[in-house]
Amino acid sequence: MHIDGTTGVVALLGHPVAHSKSPEMMNRAFQTAGLPYIYAAFDVAPEALGDAVRGLRALGVRGWNVTIPHKVAIMEWLDEVDETARAIGAVNTVVNDNGRLVGYNTDGTGYLRSLQEETGLDVTAQRVLIIGAGGAARAVGHALATAGVRHITVANRTTEKAEELAAHLGQWTATDVVGLADINRVLEETTLLVQSTSVGMYPHVDEIPIAPSGLHDRLIVSDLIYRPKWTRLLQEAKKRGARVHSGLGMLLYQAVLAFEHWTGRPAPVETMREVLEASLQ
Ligand code: ATR
Repeated sequence: MHIDGTTGVVALLGHPVAHSKSPEMMNRAFQTAGLPYIYAAFDVAPEALGDAVRGLRALGVRGWNVTIPHKVAIMEWLDEVDETARAIGAVNTVVNDNGRLVGYNTDGTGYLRSLQEETGLDVTAQRVLIIGAGGAARAVGHALATAGVRHITVANRTTEKAEELAAHLGQWTATDVVGLADINRVLEETTLLVQSTSVGMYPHVDEIPIAPSGLHDRLIVSDLIYRPKWTRLLQEAKKRGARVHSGLGMLLYQAVLAFEHWTGRPAPVETMREVLEASLQ
């Protein structure tokens, strides 16, 4: 790869970042697209975030991804936060337009684009059940609610958090809350199940967040976990005739949309998918 005085820089800010797949995926993407950028990961402690942003702005860094634990705190250092990121309450992508810093959130839109690309689903026809009510549920719930799904039910271990998310999403669509114990009753009329908790994530690959007996063949089951690519929930869903959608798609498309924000060019999606799949083997 040719690097010279005109090469642009894009970054990742997180803490930790050493195991991130983004540097490899983004550098391959820039190379494949023939764009003069390099992507570097920076481990930034929470108390250093403001200094880091001032430095990136001064250095003319074109943009950056933001990951745990900075997705909320970054907002106070930006000039503008777009409407979607504001509604979700978190930023994962920043664009530096000649010193003006704008924050976006591509997690929810990335999820939606992946779901549509991979399943061809008509989102507006869906009755959705979201398990979990954390940051990922909030981003995906916002994307589904604003895309016009018919109804969203939220189920979470901590009921108050489910109630808070359902009330928030109620700005855009009909919502309600059920206890985890009542999931089977709701599953009967659900067409899209979104699993957003960490239950079943590597190395706890045998765990499953709900009893599989209620899964059926009219469902699309989406698990936001990407490691493993096929969680136990997705395996059980497939056995019962449901269509399955892995969290790898959301990870891929949130990066695709970030790439497009920085460069204004279509991202080389298949190259990025290959890098991700290989790195998660
Ligand atoms: P993320 O950004 O990945 O969404 P998060 O904001 O920490 O992470 O949210 C984690 C979600 O997984 C929450 O809904 C959490 O439930 P609580 O709100 O009750 O904490 C859920 N979760 C994590 N571990 C869980 C477990 N062992 N059983 C059930 N739910 C769990």
